[in-house]
Amino acid sequence: MPQAWTLTRITAFLWLSLSPVSPYVGNAPPEAAPFPVPAGLPGIPWPEDNPYSPARAELGRLLFFDGRLSANGMVSCAFCHEPAHGFEASTPVSRGVDGKPGVRHAPTLINCAWNRSQFWDGREPTLESQMRVPLTNPDEMGMTVNQAVEKIRDIKGYGPLFAAAFGDPEIDYDRISKAIATFERTIVSGNSVYDRYLAGDKSALTKQQKDGLDFFEKKGECAECHSGPSLTNEKFANLGIGSAELHADPGREDVTGKRGDWGKFKVPTLRDVDRRGPYMHDGSVKTLSDVLDVYAKGGLPNPHLDTRLTPFYLDDETRKDVLAFLDSLNGEGWQQIKPPASFPQ
Ligand code: HEC
Ligand code: HEC
Repeated sequence: MPQAWTLTRITAFLWLSLSPVSPYVGNAPPEAAPFPVPAGLPGIPWPEDNPYSPARAELGRLLFFDGRLSANGMVSCAFCHEPAHGFEASTPVSRGVDGKPGVRHAPTLINCAWNRSQFWDGREPTLESQMRVPLTNPDEMGMTVNQAVEKIRDIKGYGPLFAAAFGDPEIDYDRISKAIATFERTIVSGNSVYDRYLAGDKSALTKQQKDGLDFFEKKGECAECHSGPSLTNEKFANLGIGSAELHADPGREDVTGKRGDWGKFKVPTLRDVDRRGPYMHDGSVKTLSDVLDVYAKGGLPNPHLDTRLTPFYLDDETRKDVLAFLDSLNGEGWQQIKPPASFPQ
């Protein structure tokens, strides 16, 4: 690929991703078309060494759904990150190739393009680096990197798709992870009624939703951690979830080695939250109403509980208000992604 061409393309791309794009309007020729971002979201931060192209995202989609990337031929990424369930697991924990239950809940991939770190404890920096973990975990997909590459190389139909995505049909691990990461960045949610409200349409939220928002921002202090375009400050906090278990998950402490980080987990996005329970890093909280009960108690007691959590009295009306507000975070984008009708052979 000529250097100048790549540079122009990246510059054009950055420019386009910074300019306002209305939802799903993109009639520029496919070559130059940026990925259309729904209203209310910033431009997708495509890495310089892994720019977007429709061919790369489409290859990533096929690989994401392809069970042949696993030891038993059945466990694709989509097996745990269920597309119809907000790309999140519908069960508290998932089982991989060996049928053993995992320890953490598979989180949503909605708006993961903006994640500043990956996993509940933030131990991986990028989507490109992250995928090695599920791929090679014997309890998840159970492959080695080499086995995965060999398997994809043996499928003749993938060659032309790698050529379209990367300029030549060479298949290696770097390209597989780049294609999947590109696809993951297209799993977006925006243009919710809350986005429309923020954009100035004050009638977009109902009175009940506005009351819920008021509680969310003021008395509930939820926005202390759930803020920004994806309703997360991308930091880590200890709510005490799972802390009473015999072998409690140390969470962030395992990454930083700091005792004070014990039991801290990444603040999750609240986009489309009512469409993708159960909740929390261990999937232990079943409904959004149950989540509110945890906060009303001021979190679950443990020595490292976040000091910003204070108990509050939650009357029926406030509960309904907050749940109605959380509903207003249901957006669009990710629902358009469908499992492939067939796979390369
Ligand atoms: C067997 C179930 C399973 C499979 C298969 C699986 N994942 Fe996951 N995924 C999880 C779990 C569980 C976590 C959370 C683990 C943790 O935080 O330690 C996770 C976390 C992630 C995250 C981090 C999201 C965030 O917000 O921090 C990304 C990204 C991700 N997976 C992508 C993938 C991709 C890509 C594949 C396929 C190559 C894949 N996963 C396959 C269960 C699975
Ligand atoms: C101190 C930071 C903080 C505050 C304040 C806070 N949260 Fe959270 N929230 C988190 C963290 C961290 C998690 C994940 C905890 C875990 O898995 O152990 C979470 C999880 C959630 C979830 C589950 C989402 C999912 O995908 O599993 C919901 C819903 C939620 N919070 C709503 C709220 C509401 C409503 C309020 C206000 C009453 C609030 N949060 C206040 C940090 C916070």
